[in-house]
Amino acid sequence: MRYRRLGRTNLQVSELGYGAARGASENPQQFIATVHAAIEAGVNFIDTATGYDGGDSERVLGQALQGHDDVLVETKYCPYDSYLPDATYVGTPQALIASAEESLRRLRRDHLDVLLGHGMRSVETLDRFMNDGCYEAMLKLREQGKVRYIGISELSEADGTHQVLQRAVPSGAFDVVMLTVNFLLQTAVETVLPLCRQHDVGTVVMMPLNQASKTSGLVSVPAALECVRRHIAYGNLPAESPYTDPDLFDFLQPYSIPEAGLRYVLAQDVSTCCAGVRSPERLQENLRAIDPPYLDAARMARLQELFGRIQWQVR
Ligand SMILES: NC(=O)c1ccc[n+]([C@@H]2O[C@H](COP(=O)([O-])OP(=O)(O)OC[C@H]3O[C@@H](n4cnc5c(N)ncnc54)[C@H](OP(=O)(O)O)[C@@H]3O)[C@@H](O)[C@H]2O)c1
Repeated sequence: MRYRRLGRTNLQVSELGYGAARGASENPQQFIATVHAAIEAGVNFIDTATGYDGGDSERVLGQALQGHDDVLVETKYCPYDSYLPDATYVGTPQALIASAEESLRRLRRDHLDVLLGHGMRSVETLDRFMNDGCYEAMLKLREQGKVRYIGISELSEADGTHQVLQRAVPSGAFDVVMLTVNFLLQTAVETVLPLCRQHDVGTVVMMPLNQASKTSGLVSVPAALECVRRHIAYGNLPAESPYTDPDLFDFLQPYSIPEAGLRYVLAQDVSTCCAGVRSPERLQENLRAIDPPYLDAARMARLQELFGRIQWQVR
């Protein structure tokens, strides 16, 4: 495993992180086995949130991380009433502090390594978060030592061109941001990553496989072609060759779609890439991508040429 600097936190984080959004409720034993396999492989950064699996992600992680105090945990407070793109902002400083205290209890820790405002959907609600006491509450938790570093994550379904992060990063208010980078949503490479470098903000990548499901996402050729079909339907890509060709992704061989997807992200100047996996076997597959220089210039250029114009997250 290789380690990269998480911006101004100066923490050294594994370039492959672990996204703990799925699996804790469904199969806690397998979730714990996957976390342990990740730690065994050198993963030292895990992303979770109060809302993942109704709190089970944090709860089962707390169990899995007994005796692994050196593993860094990032969790989140969601200041909205749902995870939908059009959710209503309901953040309050009291709720933020109560949420962080709950996270500490469920994770069985005396501090959170990183606390993020979860899924900031718009510049308007970011401004509310900064001015209604929520941001001050984060600073207070940091002063008290209950939180080491603070940040926000975006919601790319609502903000595919990263307006929120383009506002938040230069403000200097945050140590870390969580953002979407994948080869079907490349916009952050030009718009956010240079700002993060300039302001020394740590970058945690989410959805590296385009938030895959069984039928769409960067997990197989049919699922990736389905994403392209949806982009065509939304008018984000033209309904013509090569986008309509079944061999569109052949140039990525010998890599599988998920391996090429992770290699694309790891080739960027990001701190860590948090892929979601629900089994140790899946994790082993993803470890193949940790292989600098990750993806050659010709394949990187072709991905940019084909998909660089996409400005919306479509799952
Ligand atoms: N706004 C936010 O703050 C936000 C939003 C979304 C995500 N996140 C974070 O980012 C993490 C990653 O995002 P994500 O889980 O939504 O999306 P993702 O990592 O792009 O996709 C995860 C899916 O890809 C599948 N997968 C992973 N490796 C694979 C492989 N080698 N072959 C085939 N399938 C593979 C997984 O399947 P299995 O589950 O079957 O293993 C899982 O269903 C989350 O866990 C969460 O921590 C944050």
